[in-house]
Formats: sequence, structure tokens, C-alpha cells
Amino acid sequence: MRVAVISAEAVPYSKTGGLGDVAGALPKALKSIGIDSVLITPCYLQTKGEYLWDTAIHDLNIDWRGGVYRAKAFYSEANGSPTFLIDAPSYFHRDSIYGYSEDHERFAFFNHAAIVLLKRIGAAPNILHLNDWHCGFAAVEIAEKRRWDPFWRDTRTVFSIHNMAYQGGFSAGDLWKFGFGSEFARNAFAFNGYASAMKAGLEVSDTLSTVSRRYAMEIQTVENGYGLDWLTRQRAHRLIGITNGVDYEVWNPETDPELPEHFSIDDLSGKAECKRALLQAFSLPVEMDRPIFANITRLTAQKGIDLMMQVAGEILNAGAYVISLGSGERRYENFWQSLRDYAPRQVGVYRGYNEPLAHLIEAGADMFLMPSKFEPCGLNQMYSLRYGTVPIVRAVGGLDDTVQNWDAVSGTGNGFKFGPYRADRFLEKIYEAIYAFGDKEAWRTIQRNGMTQDNSWENAARKYVKLYEWTLS
Ligand code: ADP
Ligand code: GLC
Repeated sequence: MRVAVISAEAVPYSKTGGLGDVAGALPKALKSIGIDSVLITPCYLQTKGEYLWDTAIHDLNIDWRGGVYRAKAFYSEANGSPTFLIDAPSYFHRDSIYGYSEDHERFAFFNHAAIVLLKRIGAAPNILHLNDWHCGFAAVEIAEKRRWDPFWRDTRTVFSIHNMAYQGGFSAGDLWKFGFGSEFARNAFAFNGYASAMKAGLEVSDTLSTVSRRYAMEIQTVENGYGLDWLTRQRAHRLIGITNGVDYEVWNPETDPELPEHFSIDDLSGKAECKRALLQAFSLPVEMDRPIFANITRLTAQKGIDLMMQVAGEILNAGAYVISLGSGERRYENFWQSLRDYAPRQVGVYRGYNEPLAHLIEAGADMFLMPSKFEPCGLNQMYSLRYGTVPIVRAVGGLDDTVQNWDAVSGTGNGFKFGPYRADRFLEKIYEAIYAFGDKEAWRTIQRNGMTQDNSWENAARKYVKLYEWTLS
């Protein structure tokens, strides 16, 4: 079986969030279980030149918007599996990866270029695995092409939803520019008077998946369907949830090159050294008995920052440290900054994106806060589990699938979990965690329960192979 994974971002070439982690790791995991896979992703200004091989460059003349766009495709195996990077400077050599008014055009082009490239390589994939709204365009193009182009006749599409809240909406008048003038295409994109790339992907792909079992149900509800719940319900028989994995070659406290000392389930002494280094990195006084609560995230409403604002004062009153790494909406950045100004000996804040620091925080913190409003999967809670950092999460999406609430009587559970989106419920769990932290033996059990949980990509990749087989049948 040949699989082509298409994604707007993929580690190590580009990353703004979990999609990058997933799209980088899945092809490698597929390869390790014997699936012939190729990844196609854009070559951004942010993509490091060292990853791009200067051999095997394809020059691509792409028919686009009534003319020809001369693009290139670089080849790389920097993520451990064959990858082509579409180089189209006017679209992708920009200061940031997303956030432009013509993002829909940039990714429509990327999708078309990926399809041109696959044909140029000469072997049609059996499965075209598309990710999020950025790839809705390819779903439509393939659905149309396989009616008349024998090359694509046996290709089937799998569309994975990583976040229903981002749907790639644009003016329907633009559809003609990108070659989507047919009635079939226009209907596929049509959504409330404009065009939606997410809706098109959901409607015409052969099968659908999303990144946790619980989120697969949640997107069928009005609350989490963002106007498309009717469509996910309509196609529920073709939709499954597969919880993301963790790339344990990158996130492993026994080998992580970003850590001052390594540690494992049997010997956690190195974790104490990481905690010391973390406090020092933020110029905080080193008091090892005080717990560190940490958070690493895009600062958006999705991540429950509003709840954190409600409980931060109480965490500080309890004598704990709070560390935040993230950037995003101004109001949330301001909140963290002013919290730090208010308690500079207890609060550490880094505004921005910093991969090495993310590793040190996962290793050095005691608890990880993730009170998300919604969370399709979430990766940080799984990194936390492996690093002996106890997650405190809201029971939604992948957080619910991967974190089990601690039960002191049975000694089961790997974290703390609350239900309603309410500050008092969140705070209750924070206090429970502080209490358990004081009981060294209990804490060790919670950590052990988390560190032994297997969230490897190999498990997830096998489920994707089943999905591909199902799609082909
Ligand atoms: P989402 O994709 O919704 O942002 P995930 O939990 O799936 O959430 O993935 C987020 C990924 O991005 C994780 O790998 C996390 O470590 C990383 N990340 C988020 N913000 C930062 C940051 N400021 N610096 C470094 N890594 C970050
Ligand atoms: C999205 C979701 C996140 C998920 C990631 C990877 O960005 O917000 O929950 O882990 O995609 O699937």
C-alpha cells in the first residue's frame, strides 16, 4: 500500500502546534511498520536549509490561475521518511506560516502542486491522507480527477480533522480562480454563502478521522461542530477517532538532549536536577519542596487560559511556582506578564516559541495545567506523562482519552481531571494535586502510572493502517 500524507506543517520542517508534530511523526511510524509512505509539505522561510537535499530537486511547472507557476520540490528524509517540500517563494517565504488574508489561495496552490508532483513521480498513492482545512482542496481535486484520469482511478482519500474550529472560509467567488468551477466542486465547498475548505474535505473524502475517540463524538454536537456538526453526523459511519501518538525518539527523558540530566521510571533523581535548572532558567529561588505548575501553549481561548486567570492567585497563595511558555492573544500575554510582575519570585514567563525550553519545562515541572475548553487530542499532556509531570486537565477530547483521574484508594490514575468548564472545579483538582504532592509515595505512584502508559506512534500507526485498509475496501 502506498500512502501520501499531505500537511501544511510537519516537524522538523515547520511547526506551529500539534499538527506539525503529528504530520512529522506519522509517516515515520508508517514506514517503521512497512508501509510505503511519502510526506508532502510546503517549504517555508522557517524551514532550515540543512534539511533540504540539493539532489533530486524537481522543477514543477504548475498551471495556476491562468498561467504557469514555476515551483520546485526539494527532497529530504530529515523526519525519518521520504519527504517532498514544495518550494513556492511568493506563497511560503513569509514571516509566519499562517495568518494572511489569502491563506486559502496559498494552500489551494499547495494542494494542487502536491497532486502535480505525485503524478510527476509516477506512482499514484492508494491513499491520500489529508490533514485539516488546508487540504480540503486536494480532496475535491482528486474526487473530480478520478472520474476521468486513469492515473488517479484507484486513489482514495482520508481526511483527518485536527481542529474543527479552523475551517478555512473564503469568498466563493474565488473558487473559479483555483479551478473549482464545476457544480460538484462548488457544492462541495458551499457553506452558508461562502466557501469552506474544511466542509469540502469532510463532504467528499472517502473516509474521515479525527485525533481522539472522544473528539470524534464531540464534533457531532452543536457545541463542538462549529456549524458542521450536521455533516459529521451525516458521515458518522465513515468517521473514526484515532488518538495521536508521541514520538518517543524526540520526547524521552532518558535521552532528551535538551535536559541537563536524564531520568527514567526507576531513577527520578535527574528530574530533580531538571527542576533546579528550570527554576534557575527563570531566575526563581530554588526551593525544591514547592511544586511547579507549568503550561506550554498557544495562548488562545481554546486552551482555557480564562480558567487559569481565575485560579492563578490561589496557586500562588498555596506557595507554588507557576511557569508559562507561550504566545498568542494579547489579553492572555498581558495576563501572564502582569502575574509575573505581581509575584516575581513565584512566576516565570517566557513569551514566544521555544522548543528547547518546552523540553526543560516538561522535565522540570511537577504538574502540567491543561484546562482546555476543547482539545481534539493535545500532545503536551502525553509528553508530561512520559516526563513524570502530572497533568491536570479538563475531561474533553484527547485529554479525556489519555488522562485518568487519580484515585488514592485504588492507587490508579495518572493525573487529575475535572468536568465542567468552571474555575471552582479546576481549583478543586489543583488542591487535590498539591495534597498528593505532599505524600511522596502517592506522588511516585501517580508518576509511575503516567510514565508507563504507552502512547507510542506505533500503536496509532497500526490503527491508521486499518483505516486505510477500510477506506480501500
Ligand atoms: P495545539 O496543536 O492545539 O497547539 P497540542 O497540544 O496538540 O496543541 O500541540 C502543541 C505543540 O506545540 C506541542 O508540541 C507543544 O509543546 C508545542 N508548543 C506550543 N506552544 C509552544 C511554545 N510557545 N514553545 C514551544 N513549543 C510550543
Ligand atoms: C490541533 C488540536 C490539538 C491536537 C493537534 C494535533 O491543533 O488543537 O488538540 O493535538 O491538532 O492533532
